[in-house]
Amino acid sequence: MRPLDVWQPQGERDVERTEAEGAAIGDWARGLHPVTRSRAQARTAYDRASRWSRAEEPFERRARGVALDLLGIRPGERVLEIGCGAGGALVAVGRAVGPAGRVVGLDLSPGMIQEAGVRLRRAGLADRAELLVGDACSIPCADASFDSVFLSFTLELFDTPEIPAVLGECRRILRPGGRIGVVSLSRSAPVRWPTHLYEWLHDRFPATLDCRPIHPRLAVEAAGFEQAHATTIPLWGLRAEAVVAVRGAAAESRGGAAAGPRVALEPAPRPLAPVVTTPDPGVTPPDAAPVPQPRPPGGLPRALLGLPVHLYHARLGFLLGRRFLLLVHTGRRTGIQRESVLEVIRYDPVTREVVVAAGWGRRTGWLHNVEAGLAREVWLGRERFVPAWRVLGADEAERLFADYERRNRFMGPIVRAVVSRLVGWHYDGTSAARRRVVEQLSLVGFRPRTPS
Ligand SMILES: C[S@@+](CC[C@H](N)C(=O)[O-])C[C@H]1O[C@@H](n2cnc3c(N)ncnc32)[C@H](O)[C@@H]1O
Repeated sequence: MRPLDVWQPQGERDVERTEAEGAAIGDWARGLHPVTRSRAQARTAYDRASRWSRAEEPFERRARGVALDLLGIRPGERVLEIGCGAGGALVAVGRAVGPAGRVVGLDLSPGMIQEAGVRLRRAGLADRAELLVGDACSIPCADASFDSVFLSFTLELFDTPEIPAVLGECRRILRPGGRIGVVSLSRSAPVRWPTHLYEWLHDRFPATLDCRPIHPRLAVEAAGFEQAHATTIPLWGLRAEAVVAVRGAAAESRGGAAAGPRVALEPAPRPLAPVVTTPDPGVTPPDAAPVPQPRPPGGLPRALLGLPVHLYHARLGFLLGRRFLLLVHTGRRTGIQRESVLEVIRYDPVTREVVVAAGWGRRTGWLHNVEAGLAREVWLGRERFVPAWRVLGADEAERLFADYERRNRFMGPIVRAVVSRLVGWHYDGTSAARRRVVEQLSLVGFRPRTPS
């Protein structure tokens, strides 16, 4: 029998399928590369990424908007988003369903769910939203309980045999006549070199680049959805495909054409409390301090602040010299590992102490974790160490901050503008104002912990 397309064309897991087996699998699986990282790896990676998840948004926002337009959510609907991440689409969906509707976000990563909670609350949508930590292969929701289900850049994260399982779950939780909307990286023909390059990178870095292009329309149709309508969207040399389809009125069955093997499921998913009670992971509620504190940044500034994290993870932290450190700490309320990039105010080569400012003063989440004894590691250039820490006294902090300003005097106006934004009043660079700044912000020193 003539060998058909390669099912998993690269690497050790390549499996050649015969024509008959290929037909049984379906065109929707043709040429797809495998996803080899484990669920635990995915959860850890997305938890880690959750603080910087908005950095990816400019790449995906347009395609997601096209898919949401196609899905056409109406007021009063109940909508589930699977793999909701930090909640960018949940906010749009929450607005579309209106006060009489309901939006539910499901994600494997508790960190992402917390970010989504923060976002929904800031958008004033907590009363119509619900968040669940769970696995899309076993959705913790009742049969026929939603009008629409949405997956944005999530279906392509599942290994090929899992895709029918996820779509089977989507069918199950949709009411007859309910709609599915999927937007994902697309492998539809013609497959050009950027897609091949992307797949090559995915095969070599399976934990970092864990998604790969798929055939969403074919997969949705093979899972038994009807009236599929698809459109492609250019995406930085690659293509995204948005597809919308309807769950027919036929009785639900998991044994449809594309029903693959049931996938080993994660431990029972844990529903989270409604978002109104979800704590903000990075920012402590203001205490009784008399000085109003600014909110940490969002959007692009936050994304830019996240770039050094990616450099450190790519083992390229040395490019930052001793200008920025990466502090690894554990959330005192969540137990989730957090990473914060902090600008270095002073590095002492003798004691190896590195001093940073807690930029949001008493609202600084990492400072509270450090004070709770949860500072795990400091990465500085090529160095990594388990830190001991101290808060500097006002005299020393003022002296070090003045020295920092002297060394950066060509950037004086920018430094003063940033500091003014942080403290919430105009910082003019005088010594009286500097004293006030260091008292408000707190300067913290980290040095390698000496073995006791
Ligand atoms: C690439 S992000 C997309 C986030 C969001 N939908 C968007 O468009 O920005 C994929 C999300 O799927 C989640 N995810 C990965 N595997 C999952 C699983 N088995 N079940 C549920 N969610 C999962 C990840 O935690 C992550 O938040």
